[in-house]
Amino acid sequence: MAFFFKNDESKALYIQLYEYLKLEIKSGRLKVGEKLPSIRTLAFELKVSKQTIDSAYQQLLAEGYVESRPRSGLFVLPMEEISQTITTPSSPTITTNDKSKILVDFYYGAIDKTKFPLKTWKRCISDALESSLNEVYFYGDRQGDIILREEIRKYVSKARGIQCSTEQIFICSGTQQSIQLIAQLLELHNHQVAIENPGYSEVCSVLKKYQCQVTPISLEEDGISIEELQKSKAKAVYVTPSHQFPLGMVLPINKRLKLLTWAKEHSSFIVEDDYDSEFRYIGQPIPSLKSLDESDRVIYCGTFSKNFLPAARCSYIILPESLVSKGKNTIEQSSQSCSPIIQRALAIFMREGFFEKHVRRMKVTYQAKHKALLEAINKQIGENGEIIGQRAGLHILLNLKSRRTEEIIQQASDKGICIYSPSQHWFENENVPYIMLGFGGLTEQQIIDGIKVIGTLCKGESELIK
Ligand SMILES: Cc1ncc(COP(=O)(O)O)c(C=O)c1O
Repeated sequence: MAFFFKNDESKALYIQLYEYLKLEIKSGRLKVGEKLPSIRTLAFELKVSKQTIDSAYQQLLAEGYVESRPRSGLFVLPMEEISQTITTPSSPTITTNDKSKILVDFYYGAIDKTKFPLKTWKRCISDALESSLNEVYFYGDRQGDIILREEIRKYVSKARGIQCSTEQIFICSGTQQSIQLIAQLLELHNHQVAIENPGYSEVCSVLKKYQCQVTPISLEEDGISIEELQKSKAKAVYVTPSHQFPLGMVLPINKRLKLLTWAKEHSSFIVEDDYDSEFRYIGQPIPSLKSLDESDRVIYCGTFSKNFLPAARCSYIILPESLVSKGKNTIEQSSQSCSPIIQRALAIFMREGFFEKHVRRMKVTYQAKHKALLEAINKQIGENGEIIGQRAGLHILLNLKSRRTEEIIQQASDKGICIYSPSQHWFENENVPYIMLGFGGLTEQQIIDGIKVIGTLCKGESELIK
């Protein structure tokens, strides 16, 4: 196999190599089943480090372009490859805690307040208020602040590979409101809407309130079952392709393409929730599904809750061009729900380069916390626990094999450690064997201390079993 790729100094070498190989696979020049050269051979051939090749290969693996066969190497995957269905059992209830007794709270949804650029943000709010423009003092543009939409347009083009106009962007006040707008716009009431099972319960409840027939679709090892989706009569499907919520897998390229084909053939829409794509700890962020959407069937949902501030209550949707005028008609029925002051301040924050800087900083911060969490689990819980979805995001799931979830949640709570059951995200929520650990708002030391307690509880049980 000969490799011809030019060195472009504006990008890291491994990204260039990954992009080159991806193109070779997509174009069929690298054939299905073909073996990629070993890391050592290719590093020697291209005169680059083994680390460069390994990073490029890891990214191709994560996105499902290739598979790893034990002791044989990496092989190009056929687009029709489908994995086995995993069973998705179900759930207990979340215990509540007396807040004053909480020592460590693994609540999912918290961000690191200590790293928040408060001074800069205050200045941006003040600058927004000093603007002489009326929109900051009145109801604001129903579609959203035009300066913010322009900043979002630039950001998603650079970070998520999405080419769109400001006209396609609609600002909302959080993902639930984004979904509500989409449901209205697509007139989804009384229609089937498919949703991953398990999947984000907050979205499910909005759809149910809007009288949609919510249709759960099972997850396979690599994400939503396309076969099951094809059997449904869904007018739309809600997915989290870059980081499945809550299980954490990445939807591989073959399934992404199948999903897009399904939408095209059934004249249905895909709602892509890209809630935490920036925080990926192994390899590069996964490209968005929207960036592959040639048939204009993907509605992209972004939020500032993870990468900036949940309290900003600011999210956005990017509509296919064909839906823009209907989108504008739909928003005529309601006023702008995200504060115009916050929107303008955020626009200033982004325009002056603080947002990208903040995201870069938080990647490093969360990566360190994530590492501390995995290390603590390995050390304190070891074989008594299995970590699920540990490559990205601000949470993981943990299967404490020998323990009943409700029991351990209660015992941890008695010791001041708050852990949660993710069972509300399962459609049949009995006996979900996981606990959910959010770590964004905790210090590394709190993470270590909290896991130590859980480890002790697990050991107590395993000693009894012996
Ligand atoms: C799957 C998923 N989507 C979106 C969000 C963000 O929601 P919001 O924009 O309402 O803060 C979250 C946050 O918890 C989430 O888990």
